[in-house]
Amino acid sequence: MPVQKIAVIGGGTMGSGISLTAATHGIQAVVVDINEDQLERAKKYHIKQIDRSVEKERLSKEEGDIALEKLNYVSTMQEANDADWVVEAATENIDIKKSIFIQMAKNFGENVVLATNTSSISITDLAAAVQGAEHRVIGMHFFNPVPIMKLVEVIKGNKTSEETTLATLQLSESMGKIPVPANDFAGFVSNRVLMPMINEAFHAWSDGVARPEDIDSIMKLGCAFPMGPLRLADYIGLDVCKDIMMVMYNGLDENPKYLPNKKLTELVDAGHLGDKSGQGVYTYANG
Ligand code: NAI
Repeated sequence: MPVQKIAVIGGGTMGSGISLTAATHGIQAVVVDINEDQLERAKKYHIKQIDRSVEKERLSKEEGDIALEKLNYVSTMQEANDADWVVEAATENIDIKKSIFIQMAKNFGENVVLATNTSSISITDLAAAVQGAEHRVIGMHFFNPVPIMKLVEVIKGNKTSEETTLATLQLSESMGKIPVPANDFAGFVSNRVLMPMINEAFHAWSDGVARPEDIDSIMKLGCAFPMGPLRLADYIGLDVCKDIMMVMYNGLDENPKYLPNKKLTELVDAGHLGDKSGQGVYTYANG
């Protein structure tokens, strides 16, 4: 039976995008975040995006209203326990995610798929936190901005069942996405390739090879990237980039090539996280 209601754990950049995409594809979505302010921000983001889609005639007014009605916001998982699918999209930290997975396995029905939007953490390691439910755990890695980016990287853990995998492919497609498989190595394919490039751009900036805007222009004009690596790092979130690099460093034999650049770490420590804080490599008006 098609998925009727998705619980999205974490209402930040990714959780708000995943829930919006579900709702605009006819699936109820409940955003669960422990941070009330974040729930408020997710709701504002949904209203703004839906209004914009109606203005641009990508959705009719009626479709926009229906999508908004499908969205709910709660601060505990218990309030979402009738969902028939869960996607965890909380902070990229293995301890936080494991404790969320333990709660997810207790809270949701025994046939509910427990998907994670992790960018880099091993699916098998996360599944190990929920013994008896490992076959229902899978990586369902959406990309930012979720409503626009077509890819879902699908990662099986070593005990993920075929049934879970098939259902994930079906759900991804019903949300308008193209699922592509990757194996369970830290960073999978996308971040294994992307993050060392972003990190190298920080090294180039630190070494004085060029100014950030020139590094980005060179990569855009010379390599046909739609966005330069430093601009993209701000967009992803510098904290998220740093966390992903640390997961790859720890998960790929402590290879120093994955250690985050010092300037990147200093920006994160100073609270300069990129677009979401209004300041990162660049400064953004209005946050
Ligand atoms: P974010 O920092 O914007 O949002 C994380 C949210 O998780 C916050 O709102 C926080 O309050 C919430 N949270 C933390 N602990 C929680 C708990 N116990 N229960 C409920 N909510 C909790 O992070 P973002 O960027 O949305 O990333 C989320 C996940 O998606 C991470 O695993 C990240 O690696 C992954 N991801 C991020 C991408 C990006 O471009 N930012 C792209 C693809 C995946």
